[in-house]
Amino acid sequence: MIANSAGHLLSIDIAYFIATCLFVVGLRRMSSPTKARSSIWIAGVGMAIAIIATLTIAGDPGRRVLIPIAMFLGAGFAFVQSRRVSMTDAPALIALYNGLGGGAAAGIAFVELLRASEHSSSLRFFAVVGALAGSVAFAGSLMAWRKLRSDIRRSIPFPNRQVVYLAIMTLLLLVGLILAYSNSAHPVLLLLFVLLALFFGISMTLPIAAADLPVLISLYNALTGLAVGFEGFVLGNPAMMVAGTLVFAAGTLLTQLMARAVNRRLSEIMYSGFGVGDDDKPMVGTRDGFVNEVEAHDAAASMAFANRVIVVPGYGMAIAQAQHKLRELTQLLDERGVQTAFAIHPVAGRMPGHMNVLLADAGVPYEKIADLSAINEEFSHADVALVIGANDTVNPSARTDEKSPLFGMPVLNVDQAGSVIVLKRAKGRGYANVANPLFEEPGTRVLLGDAKDSLQELITSIKALD
Ligand code: TAP
Repeated sequence: MIANSAGHLLSIDIAYFIATCLFVVGLRRMSSPTKARSSIWIAGVGMAIAIIATLTIAGDPGRRVLIPIAMFLGAGFAFVQSRRVSMTDAPALIALYNGLGGGAAAGIAFVELLRASEHSSSLRFFAVVGALAGSVAFAGSLMAWRKLRSDIRRSIPFPNRQVVYLAIMTLLLLVGLILAYSNSAHPVLLLLFVLLALFFGISMTLPIAAADLPVLISLYNALTGLAVGFEGFVLGNPAMMVAGTLVFAAGTLLTQLMARAVNRRLSEIMYSGFGVGDDDKPMVGTRDGFVNEVEAHDAAASMAFANRVIVVPGYGMAIAQAQHKLRELTQLLDERGVQTAFAIHPVAGRMPGHMNVLLADAGVPYEKIADLSAINEEFSHADVALVIGANDTVNPSARTDEKSPLFGMPVLNVDQAGSVIVLKRAKGRGYANVANPLFEEPGTRVLLGDAKDSLQELITSIKALD
């Protein structure tokens, strides 16, 4: 009997070890967009192994029934939602799921802190940290989800933000210490702690807009990982410890990278109100209109007879699902001897790597894609910069206009190319809701229309040149 249960525990440990290896391999491979799809499957198999192993040690028979029911409901809902969601809504859905992960970890912490006497003070401390991180990530991600869906378009700053934050953090610290170092449960204090943490997450996200939102979303991703990792320690579950730590580490690195990409310090984003929307400020640019509209055949001729064309995709390309047409166009240009390259801004689109994933999906060769730091100097040597549904990421006012919420964010230097061709539908603004003086510059010509249709017209016009 003893040998049997020792063998069972060993097989559980082996299962967790295999799951861990699959998580690491999956994460490692995800750095290449071409391998991302299979990497998700590898990590998913790891998660399935970890879940099955955990189910076999769920002693209480009631739990063995309840856990699969909960999983079935959750997975079913996610499956249906994910199949229905359009590519453009995927970033918002990911923010929502990230928040739910944090909320689940906070839920575990809540239950374990209600059983405070069964845990040591260090485990209660871990549970408190997990409850804090998970609740902040949950509330913050839900707000970010609504902002990404444009349900909330404005940033909502409130007065004395720093003082409010300091007061909440002090209260959280005091209540958290009582919960961690008291041997008995304090349901009312626990509820207060979670409500404060939720409020903190909401208040931290409300004032954030423009280029700062991606940084905060990455931070919430890291917090969810932290919460899951700490709750893994509380439950003694190695798979949760490892998965949580991996997400925390990856999320922290991504937060740093995103902050560097938009040239902000995290403290600036969280406390100083940098990056708040400018709905109430005067608009940048004077006429908010276009000087030059262009016909597709003229734009096509400019590119077909150029030496070098740099393509800048943005969120509009994702909306139009124009990546396949774009690949077709650049292939045509390549065949004519035009050198083409793709310039990707780190916050283009609505999620990290958004453009890279779409371009890889359309079969654009990876070596043609360069990030901002690698390609920005190249624009001055390009004959044409072709901007497809990008706006904030090519807004030159980010360099010069201190009032702009984009000020300080490095942008792609499209205005330094010989000429600029912009594909957009109308006079719509970008995510930051700032007017873009690029569209009024004499070297810029705008081809109005849905990006996919415009690209088709360009393709037809280039073919007609032969
Ligand atoms: P945006 O600034 O969002 O501009 C998109 C442009 O695409 C708009 O000007 C819109 O103009 C045009 N557009 C929309 N649908 C189109 C269609 N069917 N065909 C052609 N054009 C279309 O894009 P961006 O330059 O990629 O910048 C991204 C912004 O999102 C940044 O401010 C960034 O901070 C923010 N953000 C990014 C992330 C991440 S992690 N990437 C997350 C959250 C927020 P029309 O309406 O006139 O067509």
